[in-house]
Parts: sequence; structure tokens; C-alpha cells
Amino acid sequence: MNYRSIFRADLFAGQTIMVTGGGSGIGRATAVELASLGAHVVLVGRTAEKLTAVAHEISRLGGEASTFTCNIREEAQVQALFAAVLAAHGALHGLVNNAGGQFLSPAEFISQKGFHAVVETNLTGTFLMCREAYSQYMRDHGGVIVNMLMENWRGFPGMVHSAAARAGIENLTKTLAVEWARSGVRINAVAPGLIESSGLDNYPDVAKQFIQNVVQDIPFKRMGTESETAAAIVFLLSPGASYISGESIRIDGASSLWRKTWEIEDHNNAPPPFNGFEP
Ligand code: ADE
Repeated sequence: MNYRSIFRADLFAGQTIMVTGGGSGIGRATAVELASLGAHVVLVGRTAEKLTAVAHEISRLGGEASTFTCNIREEAQVQALFAAVLAAHGALHGLVNNAGGQFLSPAEFISQKGFHAVVETNLTGTFLMCREAYSQYMRDHGGVIVNMLMENWRGFPGMVHSAAARAGIENLTKTLAVEWARSGVRINAVAPGLIESSGLDNYPDVAKQFIQNVVQDIPFKRMGTESETAAAIVFLLSPGASYISGESIRIDGASSLWRKTWEIEDHNNAPPPFNGFEP
């Protein structure tokens, strides 16, 4: 495959790795990179067409993927998903809980229903996926899980629901790292800041303008790429991270650390964006 991963081409040969939300954005980039490193990638999401398009992309590039639709908020569907994947592949070495979603709104306008929907997708959905991966396979065989956070170090005005849910996922990740260590399971998380991803297309134009302004307040003066996020996920899945569990990595160009006490003039000196899809 010609994805330009920085990792060894046979790193995940013979492994089956599930990626939720694999039909677009960071999930797609992670799936393509894992397939380029020899994994059979199980793409999971709600929309079959999006998953199929990525599976075709992977097979055109010479990799292997299969697709399973599932709403991760539905316990019975999650249980059936793992039963079907294990029946088809016999093993599950890794799980990337990338699926999630939120909408921009000041907290005062978020209904209970809207708040619950975001918490259920992100926090409950991630919990159900972790629990079933463990009970149906990883308790007896070990495995690696990577969860998806957002850079919410100083809260996240405009997304109180998702920021709270992701804080829950971060703590869940720490708890499970300890509870499941005896089974040889490692579980970590990544916290992307502003990433130039297809997920941004879902926001209204006014939010897109807001995002352009925010870039000036990122010490690296640019957004991150999907590939830069995928690379951190792939590292956490790899044997190079064998002694890392319960940890979260921020992928944010130092944006969570910056405040107005230190002016950073406009510059072009950030490490160049890494994009594995470029020829
Ligand atoms: N992506 C976003 N929300 C999802 C859900 N509830 N189930 C699976 N994939 C999703």
C-alpha cells in the first residue's frame, strides 16, 4: 500500500483491528494507515455506504478491510457486532474507539435530550465497546484499545456536553488500564486539538470562520492533520507502546498550554504537516 506511514510495513501483519467511525476523517486515516501496515481493518459505523467507500479505497491500495454497521449507543447491537466480527475473523487484536459526535451550542441552549444524546454516543458508546471487546475476547487473549478524547484541558466553551463526556472517557481509560492489566490489555487515549478533518465540514460557515481565527492562537499557527492523529493512535497500538497504559496524548500543537501572557508572533516554523496520503 502506498500510504506513507512512518511505521514498519508488517507491523500489524496477521492482526485484526476494529476502527469505529471508520467511514471518514480521523477514523478513515487511521484505518488506511493500519491496513498499510498489514492489519485486517474492521470498519464500524452507522452508515454502510461510507464504510464501503473506505473499504474499497483500502482494497484499491492493496490492503484488507471489512465493514459492519452498528450504532454504538445500542447495547444489543454492540454485543452482536463483536459476536459477528469474532465469528468472521476469530480474533480481535486492537480496537480504536473513534466514533463520536457533538454539536456547537452555548450550554444554556442545550436540552436534556441533546446533552444525553452526546453523552450516550461518546461516553456510553465507548464504554459499551470497551466492555464487549473485553468480555468477548480481550479478557482471555489480551489486546490494545485506543479511545478518542478532545483537547478539553481548560474546558471547552461551546461544547459542554462533549467536553464532559470526553473527560469521562479519559477517566474510564485510567480505570480500565488498571482493572484489565491482568489480562494483558493496554488502553490509552488521544486528545486531538484543531484538526483539519472532514468532520469540520459538518459545522456551519460561521463556525468555520471562527476556526480560522482560532488558528492564530495555536503556538504552531496551523491546524493538525488527520495523519498526525492517526500516527499517534498507531503508535499506541504498536509494541513500541508496550509499557504505556491509562495515558492520554494531546495532539494539539501546544494549544492547550498557551495563554495570552506570551505573545507568539506569526511564524512558519512549526514542523511541516505530516500527510500520509500525499504521494
Ligand atoms: N458515529 C457517530 N455516532 C455513532 C454511533 N452512535 N454509532 C456508530 N458510529 C457513530
